[in-house]
Amino acid sequence: MADVRVICAIGRSGQLGLDGGMPWEGRTARPFVEDVERFFEITRGHVLIAGPKTVASFPDFAHDERTIVAIRSGDEPEEVLSRFPGRVVYIGGGPAVWTAYARFVRHWDINTLPYDGEADTWFDPAWLIAGGSARPG
Ligand SMILES: NC(=O)c1ccc[n+]([C@@H]2O[C@H](COP(=O)([O-])OP(=O)(O)OC[C@H]3O[C@@H](n4cnc5c(N)ncnc54)[C@H](OP(=O)(O)O)[C@@H]3O)[C@@H](O)[C@H]2O)c1
Repeated sequence: MADVRVICAIGRSGQLGLDGGMPWEGRTARPFVEDVERFFEITRGHVLIAGPKTVASFPDFAHDERTIVAIRSGDEPEEVLSRFPGRVVYIGGGPAVWTAYARFVRHWDINTLPYDGEADTWFDPAWLIAGGSARPG
């Protein structure tokens, strides 16, 4: 059975994305830079599955130290997770992916960043309480 987790970053109102990227993209203040560093540190050595746009946003070096898998809406979540027995599997988003996989997630790691600006993609707290209602494999 996979150990299914999420690591994500949100703004102060739950902002997740803007124009296909992070809403705070390009910001160089310490909390934003540390968030990216922490993401790569925590997912190192593990499986990271995400939608095609999120996978495309990962830099090339990310593929060297973790197993990155792009998942599609035609994939069955149970089947995807059953490929990784005993592994830690991070669900990297975006929102449609979290909606589909939230029921398998036992651990959420959410970093709230000092961002109050606009977004077109938002965190849904319903994902948090969906966790634990299904076993991954
Ligand atoms: N703040 C954060 O931590 C964070 C993390 C991740 C993403 N984001 C932001 O979110 C936005 C991108 O997310 P996105 O959702 O547009 O793109 P995405 O990463 O490509 O994820 C959505 C796509 O995943 C695929 N998918 C795979 N399994 C699915 C399932 N079971 N049910 C439904 N869809 C499934 C679908 O593609 P097909 O229909 O083509 O198969 C769907 O269109 C960007 O703004 C990005 O920066 C933010």
